[in-house]
Amino acid sequence: MSTRKPPRKPLIAANWKMYKTPTQAKEFVSVFLPLVHGHTRDEIVLCPPFVDIATVLAATHDSNVHVGGQNMHWQAEGAFTGEISAAMLAAAGCTHVILGHSERRQLFGETDETVNQKLHTALQHKLMPIVCVGELLAEREDGKTEEVLLRQTSKALVGIAADAARHIVIAYEPVWAIGTGKTATPEMAAEAHLIIRSQVARSLGRELADKMRILYGGSVKPENATTLLNQPEIDGALVGGASLDPQSFAKIVQYITF
Ligand code: 13P
Repeated sequence: MSTRKPPRKPLIAANWKMYKTPTQAKEFVSVFLPLVHGHTRDEIVLCPPFVDIATVLAATHDSNVHVGGQNMHWQAEGAFTGEISAAMLAAAGCTHVILGHSERRQLFGETDETVNQKLHTALQHKLMPIVCVGELLAEREDGKTEEVLLRQTSKALVGIAADAARHIVIAYEPVWAIGTGKTATPEMAAEAHLIIRSQVARSLGRELADKMRILYGGSVKPENATTLLNQPEIDGALVGGASLDPQSFAKIVQYITF
């Protein structure tokens, strides 16, 4: 039995990044849904590109699979060409949203401050935010992992009220493990999760910290899912590449619990 305490329902999320047309998304769901039919141990979320959201929502209607966005703007609406608001995601039927993914931070100029603004807005719109934090390879090699995780976590949580905070999910995604085939060892991930949880406790209190789900992301595959997800500190996974194939993502969802 896992020693996850207090019981935190694991969340397994697919981040499709910039992959799949609506037709391909529909094909994925038609194969994936029967494979995870009746699976209630874990919360399952698909985060497709924006143009696929309506298709994936229609295809997963009345199922155990939730749908989330990969990003959103922090403003309610406005002249922000190319952006999507929290209200739009919620109205479309999304229940979750990924915030501050390292690709957004590195390639699209997201900062700890914009992640914090987005977190406030997502919570106002009752979206469950999956806030990504994680160190670069150079930061790990310089011994700065703890400093980076404490900074990203504390800045994301600035001004967040305790009653809203219980909906927040954090994803630890070491940047050097994303799309590289390199995975943090379960011990490395567990250590990072403890650091993140300690900051959540400082920002929001111990009780909320104990309840907050902290996911691991970075080259999660069917072959390593069971080992990673049985770590008591790891409350789920945020999966990129291996979530694009329905069989492979279903195998991850069906990791064996010790
Ligand atoms: P990979 O699973 O492809 O390493 O991607 C992880 C990720 O970035 C999920 O958000």
